Amino acid sequence: MATTLAIDIGGTGLKMIALDEAGTPVTERTRVLTPSPPTADAVLAGLTGMLGSHGEYDRVSVGFPGVIEAGVVKTAANLDPSWIGVDVVAALSERTGKPTRAANDADIQGWGVINGKGVELVLTLGTGLGSAIFVDGELVPNLELGHHPFEKGDTYEERLGKVALKAAGKKKWLRRVKRAITQLESTFNYTTLHLGGGNAKKVEGDLPENVQIGLNVAGLLGGIALWRKP
Ligand code: BGC
Repeated sequence: MATTLAIDIGGTGLKMIALDEAGTPVTERTRVLTPSPPTADAVLAGLTGMLGSHGEYDRVSVGFPGVIEAGVVKTAANLDPSWIGVDVVAALSERTGKPTRAANDADIQGWGVINGKGVELVLTLGTGLGSAIFVDGELVPNLELGHHPFEKGDTYEERLGKVALKAAGKKKWLRRVKRAITQLESTFNYTTLHLGGGNAKKVEGDLPENVQIGLNVAGLLGGIALWRKP
């Protein structure tokens, strides 16, 4: 049975856990703060320092907070520009000595929460605003709704990300989340909207029936899905 080391590179924290093939954790999740500035070298050094706590594993999955194409970082809005062009798959397979796959963090989170039916939109409320869309369980990779205009000349990420939550306060932020849901429902006509990420637990009150709040740990659990295809 193959063990997967699932790594989540976040704008605020770096997380790791080892999972068996069913997605059951086989080590305790570890977390360290993302280095500041979050350069490629500093983050990779931080991750290297965490590897020792996860025993033996056979393969590695990496969730990255930006667009990933064929293992290479194309955007990194909440990290450092030194990431652009970095082959994150090569960097981590070198450091772990194991086969490695990488995808956008919201895409991975999505795999951890979807049910495979109809159109499923995933929004992650964390440092940035992550998004992913699946049709009958098939991913359309690298949806970047976060940087799309939302309201008042600001993007979804500028209205709903970590900085916005702090500046606006929870009450105002929650009203924005609900307006965003209304707008996204009429844009995507999704079957289900999944809300995840560290701040999803702050979403409360009445929500439409087709909105579900996922577990934050899904960000790591979806790492198994990266290995489902040959
Ligand atoms: C990035 C996305 C990422 C999201 C959450 C955004 O700023 O552009 O790729 O999924 O933050 O980390």
